Amino acid sequence: MYDNWEDLEKSIIGCKKCKLFTNRNNIVFGTGDKQSDIMLIGEGPGADEDLQAIPFVGKAGKLMNMAFDALNIKRDKVYIANIVKCRPPANRNPENDEAQACLDYLRNQVLLVKPKIIVLLGNVALKNILGKEYGITAARGKWVEKKGIWYMPTWHPAALLRDDNKKIDFWKDLKEVKNKAKDMNIGGD
Ligand code: URA
Repeated sequence: MYDNWEDLEKSIIGCKKCKLFTNRNNIVFGTGDKQSDIMLIGEGPGADEDLQAIPFVGKAGKLMNMAFDALNIKRDKVYIANIVKCRPPANRNPENDEAQACLDYLRNQVLLVKPKIIVLLGNVALKNILGKEYGITAARGKWVEKKGIWYMPTWHPAALLRDDNKKIDFWKDLKEVKNKAKDMNIGGD
Protein backbone atom coordinates (compact mmCIF):
# COMPACT_ATOMS: atom_id res chain seq x y z
CA MET A 1 0.00 0.00 0.00
CA TYR A 2 1.17 3.51 -0.81
CA ASP A 3 0.71 6.45 1.50
CA ASN A 4 0.45 8.99 -1.33
CA TRP A 5 -1.34 9.37 -4.65
CA GLU A 6 1.76 9.92 -6.72
CA ASP A 7 3.28 6.54 -5.86
CA LEU A 8 -0.05 4.76 -6.18
CA GLU A 9 -0.75 6.27 -9.59
CA LYS A 10 2.78 5.44 -10.73
CA SER A 11 2.36 1.84 -9.56
CA ILE A 12 -0.54 1.15 -11.91
CA ILE A 13 1.14 2.42 -15.09
CA GLY A 14 1.52 -0.50 -17.51
CA CYS A 15 -0.30 -2.87 -15.14
CA LYS A 16 -0.45 -6.47 -16.39
CA LYS A 17 -1.80 -8.10 -13.24
CA CYS A 18 -4.71 -9.58 -15.16
CA LYS A 19 -5.70 -10.35 -18.75
CA LEU A 20 -7.74 -7.15 -19.16
CA PHE A 21 -4.59 -5.25 -20.09
CA THR A 22 -4.53 -6.91 -23.52
CA ASN A 23 -7.47 -4.97 -24.97
CA ARG A 24 -7.38 -1.71 -23.08
CA ASN A 25 -6.76 1.72 -24.52
CA ASN A 26 -6.45 3.35 -21.13
CA ILE A 27 -6.39 2.48 -17.46
CA VAL A 28 -9.39 4.19 -15.86
CA PHE A 29 -8.08 4.97 -12.42
CA GLY A 30 -10.57 7.30 -10.74
CA THR A 31 -11.87 10.84 -10.79
CA GLY A 32 -13.06 13.58 -8.50
CA ASP A 33 -12.13 14.97 -5.12
CA LYS A 34 -9.39 12.83 -3.60
CA GLN A 35 -10.32 14.10 -0.14
CA SER A 36 -14.06 13.67 -0.46
CA ASP A 37 -16.13 12.21 2.35
CA ILE A 38 -18.18 10.42 -0.30
CA MET A 39 -16.92 7.81 -2.73
CA LEU A 40 -18.82 5.91 -5.42
CA ILE A 41 -17.64 2.56 -6.71
CA GLY A 42 -18.77 1.09 -10.03
CA GLU A 43 -17.92 -2.09 -11.83
CA GLY A 44 -15.47 -1.37 -14.61
CA PRO A 45 -14.94 0.93 -17.57
CA GLY A 46 -17.06 0.69 -20.70
CA ALA A 47 -16.06 1.75 -24.20
CA ASP A 48 -16.32 5.51 -23.59
CA GLU A 49 -14.45 5.31 -20.33
CA ASP A 50 -11.72 3.20 -21.93
CA LEU A 51 -11.23 5.87 -24.58
CA GLN A 52 -11.37 8.87 -22.24
CA ALA A 53 -9.70 7.34 -19.16
CA ILE A 54 -12.46 8.75 -16.95
CA PRO A 55 -15.08 6.68 -15.09
CA PHE A 56 -18.78 7.05 -15.93
CA VAL A 57 -18.63 9.27 -19.00
CA GLY A 58 -20.84 7.06 -21.21
CA LYS A 59 -24.63 6.65 -21.27
CA ALA A 60 -24.86 5.27 -17.74
CA GLY A 61 -22.60 8.02 -16.46
CA LYS A 62 -24.75 10.69 -18.09
CA LEU A 63 -27.79 9.30 -16.32
CA MET A 64 -25.89 9.32 -13.04
CA ASN A 65 -24.91 12.94 -13.70
CA MET A 66 -28.60 13.79 -14.14
CA ALA A 67 -29.37 12.31 -10.73
CA PHE A 68 -26.45 14.25 -9.26
CA ASP A 69 -27.76 17.46 -10.80
CA ALA A 70 -31.29 16.85 -9.54
CA LEU A 71 -29.97 16.31 -6.02
CA ASN A 72 -27.37 19.05 -6.21
CA ILE A 73 -24.47 16.64 -5.78
CA LYS A 74 -21.39 18.06 -7.47
CA ARG A 75 -19.59 15.36 -9.41
CA ASP A 76 -16.20 16.96 -8.78
CA LYS A 77 -16.85 16.97 -5.02
CA VAL A 78 -17.13 13.17 -4.77
CA TYR A 79 -14.59 10.53 -5.72
CA ILE A 80 -15.55 7.91 -8.31
CA ALA A 81 -13.69 4.67 -9.04
CA ASN A 82 -14.34 1.14 -10.25
CA ILE A 83 -13.67 -2.43 -9.11
CA VAL A 84 -11.56 -3.05 -12.22
CA LYS A 85 -9.60 -0.31 -13.93
CA CYS A 86 -9.53 -1.80 -17.43
CA ARG A 87 -12.46 -2.48 -19.71
CA PRO A 88 -13.76 -6.05 -19.76
CA PRO A 89 -14.37 -7.15 -23.38
CA ALA A 90 -17.90 -6.45 -24.65
CA ASN A 91 -18.72 -4.94 -21.25
CA ARG A 92 -19.04 -8.33 -19.58
CA ASN A 93 -18.81 -8.47 -15.79
CA PRO A 94 -15.26 -8.60 -14.46
CA GLU A 95 -14.25 -12.16 -13.67
CA ASN A 96 -13.24 -13.05 -10.17
CA ASP A 97 -9.50 -13.28 -10.90
CA GLU A 98 -9.62 -9.86 -12.59
CA ALA A 99 -11.40 -8.24 -9.65
CA GLN A 100 -9.02 -9.89 -7.17
CA ALA A 101 -5.97 -8.74 -9.13
CA CYS A 102 -7.26 -5.16 -9.20
CA LEU A 103 -8.80 -4.75 -5.75
CA ASP A 104 -5.62 -3.65 -4.01
CA TYR A 105 -5.61 -0.49 -6.12
CA LEU A 106 -9.12 0.29 -4.96
CA ARG A 107 -8.30 -0.55 -1.34
CA ASN A 108 -5.41 1.87 -1.58
CA GLN A 109 -7.68 4.54 -3.10
CA VAL A 110 -10.12 4.10 -0.19
CA LEU A 111 -7.24 4.32 2.26
CA LEU A 112 -6.10 7.63 0.76
CA VAL A 113 -9.54 9.21 0.19
CA LYS A 114 -10.76 8.15 3.66
CA PRO A 115 -14.43 8.42 2.72
CA LYS A 116 -17.10 8.28 5.40
CA ILE A 117 -19.74 7.11 2.93
CA ILE A 118 -19.29 4.68 0.01
CA VAL A 119 -22.01 4.20 -2.59
CA LEU A 120 -21.80 0.75 -4.16
CA LEU A 121 -23.11 0.91 -7.72
CA GLY A 122 -24.52 -2.50 -8.57
CA ASN A 123 -23.97 -6.12 -7.71
CA VAL A 124 -20.32 -6.41 -8.76
CA ALA A 125 -19.26 -3.54 -6.50
CA LEU A 126 -21.46 -4.83 -3.67
CA LYS A 127 -20.16 -8.39 -3.75
CA ASN A 128 -16.52 -7.44 -4.10
CA ILE A 129 -16.61 -4.89 -1.30
CA LEU A 130 -19.09 -6.23 1.24
CA GLY A 131 -18.99 -9.95 0.41
CA LYS A 132 -20.43 -12.61 -1.85
CA GLU A 133 -23.30 -13.23 0.57
CA TYR A 134 -24.85 -9.90 -0.44
CA GLY A 135 -27.16 -9.43 -3.43
CA ILE A 136 -28.17 -6.07 -4.84
CA THR A 137 -31.93 -6.71 -4.99
CA ALA A 138 -32.14 -7.33 -1.24
CA ALA A 139 -29.37 -4.97 -0.17
CA ARG A 140 -30.15 -1.83 -2.12
CA GLY A 141 -31.27 1.19 -0.20
CA LYS A 142 -30.10 -0.19 3.15
CA TRP A 143 -27.14 1.20 5.01
CA VAL A 144 -24.36 -1.15 6.08
CA GLU A 145 -21.73 0.13 8.50
CA LYS A 146 -18.31 -1.51 8.52
CA LYS A 147 -15.18 -0.26 10.26
CA GLY A 148 -16.56 3.26 10.51
CA ILE A 149 -17.56 3.54 6.84
CA TRP A 150 -21.23 3.72 5.86
CA TYR A 151 -22.05 1.80 2.68
CA MET A 152 -25.14 2.44 0.54
CA PRO A 153 -25.70 -0.26 -2.09
CA THR A 154 -27.80 0.86 -5.05
CA TRP A 155 -28.53 -0.10 -8.64
CA HIS A 156 -25.82 0.24 -11.21
CA PRO A 157 -26.70 3.27 -13.40
CA ALA A 158 -26.72 1.02 -16.52
CA ALA A 159 -29.62 -0.89 -14.96
CA LEU A 160 -31.64 2.34 -14.93
CA LEU A 161 -31.35 2.52 -18.70
CA ARG A 162 -33.26 -0.75 -18.92
CA ASP A 163 -35.85 -0.22 -16.18
CA ASP A 164 -37.49 3.09 -15.32
CA ASN A 165 -38.66 1.89 -11.91
CA LYS A 166 -35.06 1.54 -10.85
CA LYS A 167 -34.54 5.24 -11.50
CA ILE A 168 -36.89 6.06 -8.63
CA ASP A 169 -34.96 3.76 -6.29
CA PHE A 170 -31.65 5.22 -7.43
CA TRP A 171 -32.80 8.79 -6.82
CA LYS A 172 -34.13 7.72 -3.40
CA ASP A 173 -30.85 6.04 -2.47
CA LEU A 174 -28.76 9.05 -3.48
CA LYS A 175 -31.12 11.29 -1.52
CA GLU A 176 -30.46 9.03 1.48
CA VAL A 177 -26.75 9.61 0.94
CA LYS A 178 -27.31 13.37 0.82
CA ASN A 179 -29.34 13.25 4.02
CA LYS A 180 -26.80 11.10 5.82
CA ALA A 181 -23.97 13.39 4.72
CA LYS A 182 -25.95 16.30 6.11
CA ASP A 183 -26.58 14.47 9.40
CA MET A 184 -22.88 13.67 9.62
CA ASN A 185 -22.01 17.24 8.79
CA ILE A 186 -19.91 16.21 5.80
CA GLY A 187 -19.64 17.29 2.17
CA GLY A 188 -20.81 16.17 -1.24
CA ASP A 189 -22.31 19.35 -2.58
N1 URA B 1 -19.89 1.36 -15.69
C1 URA B 1 -19.09 1.24 -14.61
O1 URA B 1 -19.30 0.41 -13.75
N2 URA B 1 -18.08 2.07 -14.51
C2 URA B 1 -17.80 3.02 -15.40
O2 URA B 1 -16.84 3.74 -15.20
C3 URA B 1 -18.65 3.11 -16.50
C4 URA B 1 -19.68 2.29 -16.65
